[in-house]
Amino acid sequence: MDDLLQDDPLERVQACASRAALAELRSALLGRSGSLTSQLRSLGSLPTELRRSQGARLNALRSQIEAALDAREAELQVAEQEQRLSAEALDLTLPAPPLPRGGPHPISCVLDELRDIFQAMGYRIAEGPEVEDELHNFDALNIPAHHPARDLQDTFWLKDGRVLRTHTSPVQVRYMVAHEPPFKIVVPGKVYRYEATDATHEAMFHQLEGLLVADQVSMADLKGTLRELARGLFGPAAEVRFQPSYYPFVEPGADFAAWWENPKGPGKWLELGGAGMVHPQVFAAVDQLRVAQGKAPCYQGKMGFAFGLGPNRIAMLRYAIPDIRHFYANDPRVLAQFRGMGS
Ligand code: DAH
Repeated sequence: MDDLLQDDPLERVQACASRAALAELRSALLGRSGSLTSQLRSLGSLPTELRRSQGARLNALRSQIEAALDAREAELQVAEQEQRLSAEALDLTLPAPPLPRGGPHPISCVLDELRDIFQAMGYRIAEGPEVEDELHNFDALNIPAHHPARDLQDTFWLKDGRVLRTHTSPVQVRYMVAHEPPFKIVVPGKVYRYEATDATHEAMFHQLEGLLVADQVSMADLKGTLRELARGLFGPAAEVRFQPSYYPFVEPGADFAAWWENPKGPGKWLELGGAGMVHPQVFAAVDQLRVAQGKAPCYQGKMGFAFGLGPNRIAMLRYAIPDIRHFYANDPRVLAQFRGMGS
């Protein structure tokens, strides 16, 4: 221990690079069993003369060491603080880390495309509630009480007797009650069916409804409109095909398919939806509702066509999505593939 003192202790103090090392040195010199402390303690055994001179020397050395320790302590404290501050400093000139970027959902891409196609033909966009009453979802659309579409299996019923709309067609009724013809609208939205889900069925999916009402409208107008739709979606060579079908709110009614020219393989007919001429019963129900609201009836003798189609099928084909459930599973691995898409 004595060599600590021999070895110029003041230089050692100065050489300490951290406060921890300094504390160690302090206790090695001045602590209970530190070298200086034990020398001071051994003074008692010296002859008086020697004790006096040694005592004075050691005490002077102790004050020097203490002063040096305190000074070095203060220096190291400042240095450590400066180091910490510079480590924590924010460099505001650095570029910000990139924000995670989203993209439109594939269904939104298709709905945007459909909207563009119909707006180019002069259609307006209309919307309606997803919680509907039986009157708008069924009765006014000429779907009578015994119709299978009202079955418990197909429809989500609310406790108060309302339903989650099973199609976008009720917006036809709402729009006609509120507006006078002529007009043409498309209605994008979500619809609900109480169904077991599989690769092609979901309990919630999307539809796009179309409705045109005027004085003179024909099935040829309907077909021309749907062909324009097919060409907007699949290119100038696309065609549409009608097959007779039954929907209570149109007469005659049809299912329509579009010819899709597959660039990588054989083309095919893609079933897109249902369509037809607005049933006179629907116009009658609308006029009745208008009268009940104090409005003039104005649909008797009008003509119109309506159609409803499923954007899901278009998106599945367009983006090669094999299972409808991928659309709504919120799996970022699916959605990440659609970054930077859409208009
Ligand atoms: N609402 C029908 C459905 O969900 C689809 C439909 C068929 C809509 C024919 C129409 C139509 O406007 O004319 O199955």
